[in-house]
Amino acid sequence: MILVVGHTKGGVGKSLLAVNLAIARARCGHRKVLLVDGDHQATAVKFTELRAQVTGKSDYTAISLVGSALRTQVRQLAPNYNDVVIDVGGQDTTSLRAALTVAHKLLVPVPPRTWEIWATEQLVPLVEEAQEINESLRAFTVINAADPQGQDNEQAACLLREFEPTLTYLDVPLVRRKTWSDAITQGQAVHECKPRNSKAVAELVALVRAIYRKAGN
Ligand SMILES: Nc1ncnc2c1ncn2[C@@H]1O[C@H](COP(=O)(O)OP(=O)(O)O)[C@@H](O)[C@H]1O
Ligand SMILES: [Mg+2]
Repeated sequence: MILVVGHTKGGVGKSLLAVNLAIARARCGHRKVLLVDGDHQATAVKFTELRAQVTGKSDYTAISLVGSALRTQVRQLAPNYNDVVIDVGGQDTTSLRAALTVAHKLLVPVPPRTWEIWATEQLVPLVEEAQEINESLRAFTVINAADPQGQDNEQAACLLREFEPTLTYLDVPLVRRKTWSDAITQGQAVHECKPRNSKAVAELVALVRAIYRKAGN
């Protein structure tokens, strides 16, 4: 399955979720995973290099592909992998649009904050336009960097549901926890980070299930 983790806004957790999902999928039944970095900042590729240096692990392949080359290259490479995860930059870029024409699913992480929620509305026409070319594309929102408690999460969920049916809301929020960023610093996914934060691990597992739940995905 080809999954894009995308938003037109930066700092929402796209790269963090893309690398965690790539590692989680590589671990699950030793699947062959390709992580495509569609951001000029190359965060996902740099993380992968750090991971190889620090942990010695190279359990997935990471490559940089930006602009319209992303579409043609992903089409060519995808049959060699069980899973492709594409991380894109935080703008309405050619890379994001190219990724949406080849992807099966788009995951849109959204912090429960007003500006990020407003910005998410921009994705509705973008997804609908992409679906005219790519009928199989399905798009999902998920709350990332949620507050540990309080009403902002529920309010954000309500507002995100207004973007349905184009963007389906996945009720598997990921809470803002230091362990997510600590793991990144150590070249690890959250389930590999010591001390293990079982709540964060459970959140990642729930997200993986929600995205990849159908057989054959
Ligand atoms: N759930 C979370 N808990 C704690 N920190 C997070 C969480 N999600 C993202 N971050 C941090 O927020 C920052 C932005 O995340 P990043 O994945 O780089 O966003 P994007 O790729 O959308 O620009 C990073 O420092 C990342 O570690
Ligand atoms: Mg990023």
